Amino acid sequence: MKILVSGCRGMLGADLMRVLASAHEVIGVDLEEVDITDPQAVEEQVAALAPDVLINAAAYTDVDKSEQQEDVAFRVNADGAAHLALACRAGRIRLIHVSTDYVFDGKAERPYSEEDSPNPLGVYGRSKWEGEKRIREILPEACLVRTAWLYGKAGKNFVKAILAQAGEKNRLRVIDDQRGAPTYTLDLAMALRSAAEKGLEGTYHVTNQGSCSWLGFAEKILELAGKKGVAVEPISTEELGRPAPRPGNSVLDCRKFEKATGMQLRGWPEALKDYLFG
Ligand SMILES: NC(=O)c1ccc[n+]([C@@H]2O[C@H](COP(=O)([O-])OP(=O)(O)OC[C@H]3O[C@@H](n4cnc5c(N)ncnc54)[C@H](OP(=O)(O)O)[C@@H]3O)[C@@H](O)[C@H]2O)c1
Repeated sequence: MKILVSGCRGMLGADLMRVLASAHEVIGVDLEEVDITDPQAVEEQVAALAPDVLINAAAYTDVDKSEQQEDVAFRVNADGAAHLALACRAGRIRLIHVSTDYVFDGKAERPYSEEDSPNPLGVYGRSKWEGEKRIREILPEACLVRTAWLYGKAGKNFVKAILAQAGEKNRLRVIDDQRGAPTYTLDLAMALRSAAEKGLEGTYHVTNQGSCSWLGFAEKILELAGKKGVAVEPISTEELGRPAPRPGNSVLDCRKFEKATGMQLRGWPEALKDYLFG
């Protein structure tokens, strides 16, 4: 298959390029080549490249800055997503679009399924939910993959932040009242390759298995990295006082994807070990 990846130099995009190249013809574009907020550029480039499948990993992903930059977040995450869907519809190209656990408000006391109604708390989540809705209207058969708490070698992420802080202090303060599933972008890239190969349509949740709080995630990072002398102190979301509200529980139920593909992502601690030492 010929697969076009938009956002190919982002954290997920970089792993997608690597994973897809082993079995497919893969072309990557990022902001420099195709700004997805420019409908004409998207239409022309997608038509010229004529892929069988387009996987969109391009997004405005700064959750806190989105609160001040609502117009930018919506231009990229909602308008940009719609431009890609229009280009795919025109070229009869299958679209796989990546979305987020932050479309949910986090009030449920169980993992969220694809049937649950989104109710995003912040601007970033609202812009991503708007992108999903716009894609569905334009291209009902598109594949939307919601994921969560990503870390990967190509980007700034929580694992790198904790290790950097552990190099400077012996006491870290980490939130313990948000729960999710840390997910390695390499594993997600393999799941997206499977979605492309199996021709999935509809909405799916995909994360590494299991869940933890940010504090639990930090403790596992420190344990695996052998940072025994570093203590982690729990703090609340309120105490940290970041600009954007975030869901308290954003664990996603991934059984629909597992049934459709026969593929279950490994547990998050095992994936983390592979990220650190693989
Ligand atoms: N990171 C997470 O924890 C997380 C969690 C759940 C879901 N997701 C979703 O997963 C996907 C991948 O996330 P990620 O963390 O890999 O993101 P990322 O590292 O921020 O990569 C996004 C890429 O999109 C590019 N981009 C930004 N604006 C663009 C535009 N107007 N036109 C074309 N490209 C543009 C960025 O370029 P610049 O760097 O030059 O701006 C970057 O290369 C996104 O859809 C995100 O919403 C992420």
